[in-house]
Amino acid sequence: MRTQVAIVGAGPAGLTLAHLLDRAGIDSVVVEAKSREHVEHRVRAGVLEHGTVDLLTESGVGERLRREGLVHHGIELRFGGRGHRIDLHALTGRAITIYGQQELVKDLIAARVATGRPIHFDAREVTLEGIDGDRPRVRFQDHRGAQAIDCDFVAGCDGFHGVCRGAIPEGALTVHERSYPFAWLGILARAAPSRGELAYASHERGFALFSMRSPELTRLYLQVAPDESLAAWSDDRIWSELAARFAGEDGWRPNEGPIVERMIAGMRSFVAEPMRHGRLFLAGDAAHIVPPTGAKGLNLAVADVRVLSLCLARWYAGDAAALDEYSPRCLARVWRAEHFSWWMTAMLHRFPDDDSFQRKLQLAQREYVAASRAAAASLAENYVGLPFDDAGG
Ligand code: APR
Ligand code: PHB
Repeated sequence: MRTQVAIVGAGPAGLTLAHLLDRAGIDSVVVEAKSREHVEHRVRAGVLEHGTVDLLTESGVGERLRREGLVHHGIELRFGGRGHRIDLHALTGRAITIYGQQELVKDLIAARVATGRPIHFDAREVTLEGIDGDRPRVRFQDHRGAQAIDCDFVAGCDGFHGVCRGAIPEGALTVHERSYPFAWLGILARAAPSRGELAYASHERGFALFSMRSPELTRLYLQVAPDESLAAWSDDRIWSELAARFAGEDGWRPNEGPIVERMIAGMRSFVAEPMRHGRLFLAGDAAHIVPPTGAKGLNLAVADVRVLSLCLARWYAGDAAALDEYSPRCLARVWRAEHFSWWMTAMLHRFPDDDSFQRKLQLAQREYVAASRAAAASLAENYVGLPFDDAGG
């Protein structure tokens, strides 16, 4: 096989890149380790920034998203037994859209298949060769046997546990990392959301988050110990812990219903830089991870591949220096999101080793955000998403 860009990974990063490159008239081949069924049903993130929605809509994959996505104009911070609404729309003029990552993945795969350009699922033993030269190659195994893709560039969109980051020689990457002393237990429940907007609760017993996927599905999270086992959480324990952490003078609580999905996810902050080595470009979770408290992971992945598609289009049009912009432009946004995600996490979670001084500072920060328009506006502009830089657009 011969193509212009070999894309490793069919998550939001790889699929959005394939779509944007197709729109720019650039050929690509997508190689994904899992089955189509698997990637289309993996329950992950769900908050789309205003700019992410616009990009998807303008590029022609936003039709179902516009129809089924839930547009939210605010979020609630809940602490001290009270709810404090952050009016995202009044503070920024923008909104967010709730649309499950797996729904977006389905739309992007359908768009890919409609172009007739290749996408290979169930690829095993994916390896990269020659990323330091002009003719990289991606090899893999599938049901037909050994395959090779000769290409101009490789896009490493294979997530945190993929192979692409590891193909960069030791010493060429600098890694910045933070782990957190807790994890999130997430559930999807067949229950109508009992309020219209997300609620982030900070409680003595730990953090809790109320979200949703549709008028019939509620998504909820609880802060738990980092080594927590799902087996320790019966349905009753989950619901009573959620009720305790959301308890407030308004009497609000999430509706209960059958739990159709449950998982525990660790929390980390991670950045590998630069996001390019030779002819290999890392994008999305392959290059960086944020804790989910700021709802930035999916949006950052889309922002990366937007820049990559613009830089590649300029390179193919004869601008030899365009690709040098990729890593610094992405990293500027990545570090802003790293800070915001760390800050939201630090403000809202219970840290087991915090002393009373640290806890009082945390409370002062929450009260400031709830009371000050300037502080709330800062949260809001990060939450709805800062504008894309437009250099090279
Ligand atoms: N070869 C091919 N594909 C691979 C390999 C490999 N060796 N390793 C992993 N993959 C695939 C995974 O199966 C997955 O489909 O790469 C894809 C990576 O997708 P994501 O992990 O979703 O990462 P990304 O596209 O960067 O999207 C980031 O996803 O994890 C969420 O919250 C995160 O919302 C963020 C978003
Ligand atoms: C979700 O709906 O899954 C969700 C929402 C907001 C977050 C994280 C996850 O900050």
